[in-house]
Amino acid sequence: MKTGNLTRRKFLTTSCIALSAAGVGSGVQKLWGQARPRPLEAPDIHPGYIGPQFFDECEEQALLEVLESGSPFRYWGPGKPTKVLRFEERFADYMGARLALGVTSGTAALDCAVTGLGIGPGDEVIVPAYTWWSDYTCVVHAGALPVFADIDETLNIDPKDFERKITDRTKAVIAVHLLGGPCDMQPIMETAKKRGVTVLEDCAQCVGGSYRGKKLGSIGDVGIYSFQINKMITSGEGGAVVTNDPAIYERAARFHDMGTIRSVFLDRAGPSRVQTFAGENFRMSELTGAVLGAQLAKLDTMLEQLRGNARAIYHGIKNLAGIRLRHRPDPEGDIGYGVFFQMNDKAMRDRCIRELRNRKVPASTLTGSVLLPIQESVVNKRTRHPDWPSFNSAEGRKIAYGPESCHQTLEVFDRFVQVRVGPKYTERINDYIIDSVREVCEALM
Ligand SMILES: Cc1ncc(COP(=O)(O)O)c(C=O)c1O
Repeated sequence: MKTGNLTRRKFLTTSCIALSAAGVGSGVQKLWGQARPRPLEAPDIHPGYIGPQFFDECEEQALLEVLESGSPFRYWGPGKPTKVLRFEERFADYMGARLALGVTSGTAALDCAVTGLGIGPGDEVIVPAYTWWSDYTCVVHAGALPVFADIDETLNIDPKDFERKITDRTKAVIAVHLLGGPCDMQPIMETAKKRGVTVLEDCAQCVGGSYRGKKLGSIGDVGIYSFQINKMITSGEGGAVVTNDPAIYERAARFHDMGTIRSVFLDRAGPSRVQTFAGENFRMSELTGAVLGAQLAKLDTMLEQLRGNARAIYHGIKNLAGIRLRHRPDPEGDIGYGVFFQMNDKAMRDRCIRELRNRKVPASTLTGSVLLPIQESVVNKRTRHPDWPSFNSAEGRKIAYGPESCHQTLEVFDRFVQVRVGPKYTERINDYIIDSVREVCEALM
């Protein structure tokens, strides 16, 4: 709603300032307080999938080049396939890492990274209790044991609980940068270094994010990304691994290609240190590489737009009584995927979401991940074969999942409201969301 050249929120804010300057405190109170303002006029709000909103002739041209060359396979064909090769080089460069490997999905990237770190039977890997399935399955499939650590008000792994969960069997921690926000990497890296634990950064939900000036994925020993449609840059499906460590890289590259190694990877990582072992086929196709190359060139634009919108909305609700914003250890590094705040309890959180949705604001509980320790298949340690060695070992039988293992995570989850942010939001949409959150929260207090 426009009032002259002012958006509605600016008009109301200006009115509030004017009223309070005139000593009419109760007028301000009335605008936001007891008297319910008339309903706001909802604009169309569609946060949408991020990457596809930037598809244009660049992706089209890159795909055409692959089709016309008749070479959709990355290693050979009638043309000279270089799309995946170039994407890997540019992706490593963008992330500030020495080496990158393109694969078929984020899940495949996790399997490669876990292989790269040499994780296997007898090892424990600390995983946040709220994250995507693949952070759990990559540990299980490697024959190691997942140990859950709680999340905190960053919505990411609680560095203190990570430290508490370390045993002499802990080989690695998966620091998942969830919902567009970086983990608090400093205490995580300090503890990991002190206790000899390797760090795998899962940046699937935070592609392009950073922490204290370093791109996510380049801080720990190895980083992974997903390019599935819900993520930042997308080719529908796809993933990548980055590392500075040539030994990790060689093992990951071998695992992604049947356990063998091609010269391109040895050219990058130096002479082989590992013999051929049983691997998988997670090779990225040239069609995927073509789309990702075009998308990568637009990542900074996507980030700028998302971040600008998220910043405006956070700014507009930051002093609102009765809510606490997501704790962000480095707000500059957040990619702006959403705006997150917590209410006093679940009942109030649910009412807040309901009211916001009535106003067509894209509000929900936290999305995109799973409360893993309370999933039936996790509680019962169900794998693809009942005699799975890790869960049948003495340690595996002892380990107990379920709600008792993740109290704090369940509490945090139940208090949070998520409001999605879109890269193409206008000032009017941002203002409308701010007004709606203020109106709903103040009415609930
Ligand atoms: C945190 C996290 N890690 C890993 C993955 C796996 O990525 P993909 O779907 O590409 O296999 C996802 C996917 O949603 C994710 O959210």
